[in-house]
Amino acid sequence: MPAELSPIDKAKFAAAKRAVDFVEDGMRVGLGTGSTAAWMVRCLGELVREEGLRITGVPTSSRTADLARSVGITVIGLDEAKWLDVTIDGTDEFDANLNLIKGGGGALLQEKIVATASDQMIVIADAAKEVSQLGAFPLPVEVVPFGWQTTKALIEETLVSLDVLGRSTSLRLNGQQPFITDEGNYIVDLHLNRIGNARQLALVINQIPGVVENGLFIDICDVVIIGQGDGRVELR
Ligand code: 5RP
Repeated sequence: MPAELSPIDKAKFAAAKRAVDFVEDGMRVGLGTGSTAAWMVRCLGELVREEGLRITGVPTSSRTADLARSVGITVIGLDEAKWLDVTIDGTDEFDANLNLIKGGGGALLQEKIVATASDQMIVIADAAKEVSQLGAFPLPVEVVPFGWQTTKALIEETLVSLDVLGRSTSLRLNGQQPFITDEGNYIVDLHLNRIGNARQLALVINQIPGVVENGLFIDICDVVIIGQGDGRVELR
């Protein structure tokens, strides 16, 4: 373990280190995005450089692609890989059913496409990401820039019709400008406090024209590896 890590980084590192045990020689691996996933990419890079592990990585963001190349992982696109053996990614929240909120880093679209095209999705998280009910973390929704204010208004109307609590929404910003995803889209964050029926919400939001994808990952994750600050890990 690298020296001088904060307890939270120790937890993220511990989860990441355990997750790479699932990666075998010759595998095609989906590489998640975020600070926890970055530890996993560094751990995989070490195995590639020092133990000759032969893998190909499919990154879920331009950030992850840059990091993966810099640590020696061969990077290919999803269409070249076609199907992946495993994807390892972080999360913003997970519940007892291993349903997730993702997209805090703005990469939810590629993350969902890549995870769905994998035999197995392994999520790595520190213990603070576990919740009894999803929704305290704002739910990211990726929308196309054209007519985004209309799309945002339609999302708000939909939340009212579903009787979802909270209901405030905000355009994600990067300084004074809209945050732009790798696909050139915007993100609207939904401040809901808690989500009663995540499956229904995920389906209904995706039916709104202008919505590309939402950050609810329902029935996609197979395993969560929870890291602790003292280096212990727990598998769910
Ligand atoms: C990026 C994500 C990340 O996996 C999520 O935000 C967790 O990030 P971190 O590991 O930095 O806490 O979904 O879109």
